[in-house]
Amino acid sequence: MKILVIHGPNLNLLGSRETSIYGKQSLKEINNSLKELAKELGFELVIKQSNHEGEIVDLIQASKNYDGILINPAAYTHTSIAIRDAIAAVNMPTVEVHLSNIYKREEFRKSSLIAPEASGQISGFGPHSYLLGLRALSYILNAKKHHS
Ligand code: DQA
Repeated sequence: MKILVIHGPNLNLLGSRETSIYGKQSLKEINNSLKELAKELGFELVIKQSNHEGEIVDLIQASKNYDGILINPAAYTHTSIAIRDAIAAVNMPTVEVHLSNIYKREEFRKSSLIAPEASGQISGFGPHSYLLGLRALSYILNAKKHHS
C-alpha cells in the first residue's frame, strides 16, 4: 500500500524552529523514522514538504493512486478551506497530525478546518504523532480490506 506524507509550511525548519514547542528532531530524522515504520507496516511512502497552500492542494488532488494520506498541514490547519476541500474531494483515508497539542496553545490554533474531513487527528506527541498517525492509517486500511 502506498501512502502520501505531506508536511506543511515551516516544517522544513524542524530541529531549529521553536524547539521548546516542536522539539529538536529535524524533518529528515522524522522522515527516517517514518520510513523505518513504513517497512514494518508494509507501506510504500512518498514524502513531500511544501510551504505553499496551492502546491499542497495540487499534491492532494494528484493522490488518486495512493491508499492514504498522512498530513501535518501546519499553520494551514487553521486557515485553509482550500486544503480541506481538496481532502473532501479525493475522499481518501487521511490522518491529520500535529507535533504540539494544538488544543493547549493559542486560541487561534484550537480549531482545525481539516479535522472534519480527516479520518482522525493526532496531536501533541511530538515526532511520535507522525508514527502514531501512520499506525492509524494502517489500522484504517486493514479494517477496510477486511470489510471489502
Ligand atoms: C503544527 C501546529 C500548528 O499550529 C503550527 O502552525 C505548525 C505546526 C504542529 O505540528 O504542532 O506549524 O501543525
